[in-house]
Amino acid sequence: MILTILTLFPSTIEGYLRESILRIAQEKGLVRFRLVNFRDYSTDRHRTVDDRPFGGGPGMVLKPEPVFAAVEDAEAKDGPYRKVLLTPAGRRFDQALAREFSREERLLLLCGRYEGFDERIRLGLRWDEVSVGDYVLSGGEIAALAVAEATARLLPGALGDPESAEQESFTAGLLDFPQYTRPRVFRGMAVPEVLVSGDHEAVRRWREEAARRRTAERRPDLRPESDPKAGTGG
Ligand code: ADE
Repeated sequence: MILTILTLFPSTIEGYLRESILRIAQEKGLVRFRLVNFRDYSTDRHRTVDDRPFGGGPGMVLKPEPVFAAVEDAEAKDGPYRKVLLTPAGRRFDQALAREFSREERLLLLCGRYEGFDERIRLGLRWDEVSVGDYVLSGGEIAALAVAEATARLLPGALGDPESAEQESFTAGLLDFPQYTRPRVFRGMAVPEVLVSGDHEAVRRWREEAARRRTAERRPDLRPESDPKAGTGG
């Protein structure tokens, strides 16, 4: 996969891509990240990327020309992209969308800044508009990193143990079950007996039940599909 991020602040993203799972995914050749500063596509002397809104009001609005030029250049070089515009007005990002994105050959993420985008950026290019939650960030960079990481770690081979991706939270529509490691007793809190019993079937049942209980208590909205009480799910 080629994952291109259009941002005015590439250095805020760079360091993160050099660590951990994302670094390993690149080293394994599963993903190539490209950071593009779309200010480089501004054609005026001052390298302008924003301007005052018509009709008045506070703040600045991202101009269409540099964004269009950057997107068109990326597509001319690499081919068509699935294009994602990060905005609090978008569809809520979730594990299902991460999985969908992980199946793309090319993914482009556009990070906004300032008061927002000139509407013609939205109208003139085909975007998935995506939000990472109901709060306002000062720019799309942190949102883009969340999307990039959730997507890249699903690429086959990115995680050491392929079962990790299948068993983790949300994939099964459930929150994770509680995990324990040594010591067996810590400050009076003991590891549940069943986990050290060696009975694999009992462990599996305990974990499934714990995950269901935790999901019902904390996130009843998730309604796992395999739960008969939850109807047809999704
Ligand atoms: N840009 C600013 N806030 C955002 C959010 N919540 N999600 C995605 N992009 C954003």
